[in-house]
Amino acid sequence: MKMKAIVYTKYGSPDVLELKEVERPTPKDNEVLVKVHAASINAADWHLVRGKPFLIRLMGYGLLKPKIKILGADIAGRVEAVGRNVKQFQPGDDVYGCNWGSFAEYIAVPEDALVLKPANVTFEESAAVPMAAVTALQALRDKGHIQPGQKVLINGASGGVGTFAVQIAKSYGAEVTAVCSSGKLDMVRSIGADHVIDYTQEDFTKSGQRYDLIHAANGYHPILDYRCALSPKGIYVMTGGSMAQLFQAMLLGPLISMIGSKKMGFKTAKICQKDLAFMKELLEAGKVKPVIDRRYPLSEVPEAIRYLEEGHARGKVVISVEPL
Ligand SMILES: NC(=O)c1ccc[n+]([C@@H]2O[C@H](COP(=O)([O-])OP(=O)(O)OC[C@H]3O[C@@H](n4cnc5c(N)ncnc54)[C@H](OP(=O)(O)O)[C@@H]3O)[C@@H](O)[C@H]2O)c1
Repeated sequence: MKMKAIVYTKYGSPDVLELKEVERPTPKDNEVLVKVHAASINAADWHLVRGKPFLIRLMGYGLLKPKIKILGADIAGRVEAVGRNVKQFQPGDDVYGCNWGSFAEYIAVPEDALVLKPANVTFEESAAVPMAAVTALQALRDKGHIQPGQKVLINGASGGVGTFAVQIAKSYGAEVTAVCSSGKLDMVRSIGADHVIDYTQEDFTKSGQRYDLIHAANGYHPILDYRCALSPKGIYVMTGGSMAQLFQAMLLGPLISMIGSKKMGFKTAKICQKDLAFMKELLEAGKVKPVIDRRYPLSEVPEAIRYLEEGHARGKVVISVEPL
């Protein structure tokens, strides 16, 4: 049987992405076939379309041409069929999760890449969650050791990762300062930020205010400026932003952490079933509500990726694949 999918076979601009009819996948014994209702775009998609930075090609994604033919990591949809060893799901279940290949009408994924979709959240909202929210969760909880009452600052608070970081930090009882540009201040307030800083007007690293935990979700400040803005035992966790911010966190962070009691470092998220289930609870409790900027149909994945690549999304960009 055939299905529609956004396919690519060479690196380049989003123009290399083509809507094609391809073979519908058959689930292996441990896999679930999901009829995709919604997917979402992550920065990883546009990096993998372009094969840039080059380092990404050395990470197993294909040196000269892409190994993954169908991008899209975030999935929300309905279980169509299950492999013979699948224990957790049955046809008809609504699920969300993370696995490459969601820019398609169907996807076959290992069962441990999925959890049941929260009933109070739409497919589109669920598809916005996996990569961005779990990145924020693991940065704040696992690397940042977030505690109630702490002063937490999120830089890049208005994007995909940042809008989840603000809400997750609030769910831990932190006092949250969100850094974004002028036009997005009201939005970050509306999702719970206690304080907002407009980065076009004020450099928070120069204000004299100190934070127990700083999550750099986007943007750039020199790592030593971030260090100045930390309280004496403060923690800085970088998950995204400019290449300079990335290299400083990866290379200098561990060295700086050896001096004094402030800790600085980089976190790569590992999307796992346990944390998808953790997010499900926050969504069901109404503590987190995905912020959706734009919705595009499957045929317009290239436009959606171009939009995200401009770097000014207000929350998440979602692909509506098939209304159920
Ligand atoms: N480590 C990991 O495992 C992991 C996982 C997922 C993503 N990432 C990385 O995390 C980064 C962010 O991802 P995302 O999905 O949140 O991206 P995104 O949605 O594209 O981020 C866009 C947002 O960033 C804001 N922004 C841009 N420049 C800024 C600056 N100088 N200061 C503060 N905010 C700024 C924009 O606000 P304005 O328009 O107002 O400027 C916009 O709201 C990317 O670099 C991505 O590669 C890492």
